[in-house]
This record gives sequence, C-alpha cells and structure tokens, in this order.
Amino acid sequence: MPFPVNRLRRLRKNENIRRLIRETTITVDDLIYPVFVEDGENIEKEIFSMPGIYRYSLDRLPKELDEVVNLGIPAVLLFGIPSHKDEVGSDTWNEEGIIQRTIRFIKKNYPQLYVISDVCFCEYTSHGHCGVLHDNDVDNDETLENTRKQVVSHAKAGVDMVAPSGMMDGVVKTIREALDCAGFDHIPIMSYSAKYASSYYGPFREAADSTPAFGDRRTYQMDPGNRKEALREVQLDIEEGADIVMVKPALAYLDIIRNIKELFNIPIAAYNVSGEYSLIKAAGKLGWIDEKKVMMETITSIKRAGADIIITYFAKEVAKIIKS
Ligand code: PBG
Ligand code: ZN
Repeated sequence: MPFPVNRLRRLRKNENIRRLIRETTITVDDLIYPVFVEDGENIEKEIFSMPGIYRYSLDRLPKELDEVVNLGIPAVLLFGIPSHKDEVGSDTWNEEGIIQRTIRFIKKNYPQLYVISDVCFCEYTSHGHCGVLHDNDVDNDETLENTRKQVVSHAKAGVDMVAPSGMMDGVVKTIREALDCAGFDHIPIMSYSAKYASSYYGPFREAADSTPAFGDRRTYQMDPGNRKEALREVQLDIEEGADIVMVKPALAYLDIIRNIKELFNIPIAAYNVSGEYSLIKAAGKLGWIDEKKVMMETITSIKRAGADIIITYFAKEVAKIIKS
C-alpha cells in the first residue's frame, strides 16, 4: 500500500520506537580484542599509527587485561613479537616462546578470558614472510610442517582456540590432524579463510614488526577483486574442519561477509583491521568526524553485513559505550 497510508517515518518518531524496531545491535559478546605482546620487560609502547593500541611486555600486560576483563570482553587474539627472528620463525614452536609464555600467563591469572592465538610466521621470520622461503616465495607444504609444531605448542601452553592467518593451502586440515593426534580435539579452529592482500594492514606491520623484507604477500593472500574465490576458500576450509571462518579486512569486503552468510551455515568472524582503525582515529584527531559515532556505525555495519564475531582494536571503546 503506497503513500499516504504507508509512512515509514512513523517508526522513527523517537528513540523508544527506534530501539524497538532496531534490527542490528552490538553487544560486548560480539567482540574479540587483539593484543600485542613483545619479548622483554617494562615495555608499554604506543603504536604510532594506532593511537590507543600498545605493545606490552608480559609484566605490563595485567593493566590491559584487567580492563578487558572488567569490560566483559570475552576473548583476546594474541600476536607475539619475539626477540629472536630466524629464517623459518622457529620461536613459534618454542615452548618458552613469547606466545607460549603469554598463553600460560593469561590462563593462570585470567582463567575467565578466552585466549585465541594467531597462527602465522611473519612476526618471527627474519624476512617477514608468512612461512618458509623457497626461490623467493613461501613454500606451502614446508610451512605446513612448521604449522603443526606451532599449533601443538600453543595447545600445550593452554590456548583455547587457534587462528591460522597465513593463507597456506590445506592449513586447516593440517592443524586439525596435528591437534587431534596430540590429544587436543576439543580446540577449535578459526580460519582466516578469505584474507585479502590488503593495504589496510599497513599499521599492523608496524605494530607487529612484520613487514616483508622484499616483495609482497600476493602469492598467498587473495586478490581484492575476487569474490567467488573467497567462497571457494570458505568451502574448502569448512570441508577441512574449520569451526569459524573469517573475512579480512572487514569494511572493503562487507559484500563477501554477506555472501558467505547467505551460502553457508557456520559462524563468521570479520577482522576490522589496523588501517580501518587508523583512518577513523586520524580523522577523529583532526576533528573531521565524530570519532565515537563513526566507530559505532562502522562496527554495526560489519555485524549487519553478517558477521557473528568482530575482531577490533575498538573493542574496549565499544564496550565502554555499550556499558554507559
Ligand atoms: C599476519 C597478519 C596480518 C594481520 C593479522 N595477521 C598482516 C599481514 O598479513 O600482513 C593484519 C591485522 C591488521 O591489519 O590489523 N599473518
Ligand atoms: Zn603472516
């Protein structure tokens, strides 16, 4: 029935009715907060291009974790910056490695926090690529062998979930096998299924000290122009045993999130990446936008697109707004 019988503005009259018909709301239950942990002591270093985000050494981490727990954020995603880098990133499977020590520390002191580890090599290799190099490219299957060792060592340290981000073919199957063989069949895999070769990762590479020494990641991460290929990646990951699939970055790829939501029945995570954070922070600092409002609108858009879980550097700020 057309105008004048139908007037959609009736349901926009005031905040009460708008609340009643709102289709998408963010809760703290949707959020995962990424945390950078660096080898060493007494480190609390703000990342220049990510205001409000810090690299912490383990001794300074409690300040950050107390806040995360008090805000009711359910999970953290850990990234480690080791003191020792080598050709293959062997610190990733060292029992005394930065991530292993961090996992043990958090599970002991913050048992209520769900701990997810990023599974990759780029922060740990001298060349900054996401695996073992052969002829100036990452060797898929050799990298998988090291991934086995990495995930089992995370599991032994007590991690709750692993999140492979290197975009190696067959990584989910490999991890499932390795975990199951070692007696960790209860640990889920959140796969970075559709991870694009994106320039939005720039600030993260400063944060995690993981810029490739040469070349780029386009032989393993996806081409930004591709949509159907993302669906293939997701389908294969589900077949290999992924428990949650991820799209990354989030904002330039909302169509991919929506597409996956419509075609598959599996929880979807979206990674609101470093560059997406920095753009809003920078414009906010300049006074060009209302930073908090743009932040909430942005996070809402990711959920409305179909994400069940949002990994975001804004997690604490969003949680504070929801609480107030
Ligand atoms: C590395 C990794 C990256 C991010 C998460 N894990 C960067 C990359 O692929 O270079 C990006 C996160 C962000 O930008 O916030 N495997
Ligand atoms: Zn990597």
